[in-house]
Amino acid sequence: MDANRVKKVCIVGASGKLGQYMVQHALDRGYEVVGVCREKSVPKLAAFEGRMTVVPGDTNDPEVIRRAVEGCDGVLTVLVPWGVRQYSSGTAQAVLDHARPGARLVFSCGWHITRDGKDHYSRLFRAGVRASAWVGKALRLVEIDDQVEACDRVFASDTRWTVVRGSSLEEGESQGLPVWSRHVGDPMLASDLTRRVDFALFMVEALTDDSLVREAPAIVGRLAPSAVAHARERA
Ligand SMILES: NC(=O)c1ccc[n+]([C@@H]2O[C@H](COP(=O)([O-])OP(=O)(O)OC[C@H]3O[C@@H](n4cnc5c(N)ncnc54)[C@H](OP(=O)(O)O)[C@@H]3O)[C@@H](O)[C@H]2O)c1
Repeated sequence: MDANRVKKVCIVGASGKLGQYMVQHALDRGYEVVGVCREKSVPKLAAFEGRMTVVPGDTNDPEVIRRAVEGCDGVLTVLVPWGVRQYSSGTAQAVLDHARPGARLVFSCGWHITRDGKDHYSRLFRAGVRASAWVGKALRLVEIDDQVEACDRVFASDTRWTVVRGSSLEEGESQGLPVWSRHVGDPMLASDLTRRVDFALFMVEALTDDSLVREAPAIVGRLAPSAVAHARERA
């Protein structure tokens, strides 16, 4: 999509860490920004007061999402598997159902999501995902399976989607746009670290990058040692 054609974007989950970085990147590009977040989290967006519209409510509430995405050329959605109430899949479904036809839809998740089963995970990674899924469910705090369901619904949709799969994250100043691969296991991704501000940058840049339509890029920081080594090899 031509950058000039994106005028208004909705950020679903705007009050979180990733969400706030995306709000800033979107405002920097001159986009009109609408953010959705839980009522109790609205104060977290105080720094943006007067520069964005906030629609308070649960992100899996179809009516909240319908109002928020109205007239938006792009929707950036933070998919989080909180609770055991299909929060991720409800959020994804509401966005898929209510975004205007042709809008760019960009969703966030982690490397554990696989689109085609061709990702290669280390034993340690798989054990970590299994353990957090089990503990999260036992404590009724997190439902990783539902984030998988959410992404499967996105992959099956005929919308103009991108699912951005983040590595482990850290805070810190931007290093620029992360690099990406179609599959986890690519040596370029081995460092497994991205700055959260740059994850947000990738999400916002994806709005205008048509080469990412119906892709599920696995990203890593461009200055991560594995990414630097890959760039050197290519050069
Ligand atoms: N953390 C990592 O290391 C990591 C690694 C790879 C990928 N990712 C992906 O990156 C994205 C952002 O993750 P993040 O860890 O950096 O978190 P984050 O940006 O701080 O976002 C957390 C989101 O979850 C919401 N939330 C928190 N508790 C909730 C609850 N009980 N019910 C409903 N919503 C709740 C927050 O909303 P409020 O502001 O209302 O609390 C916020 O929108 C996710 O898609 C995640 O899968 C994260």
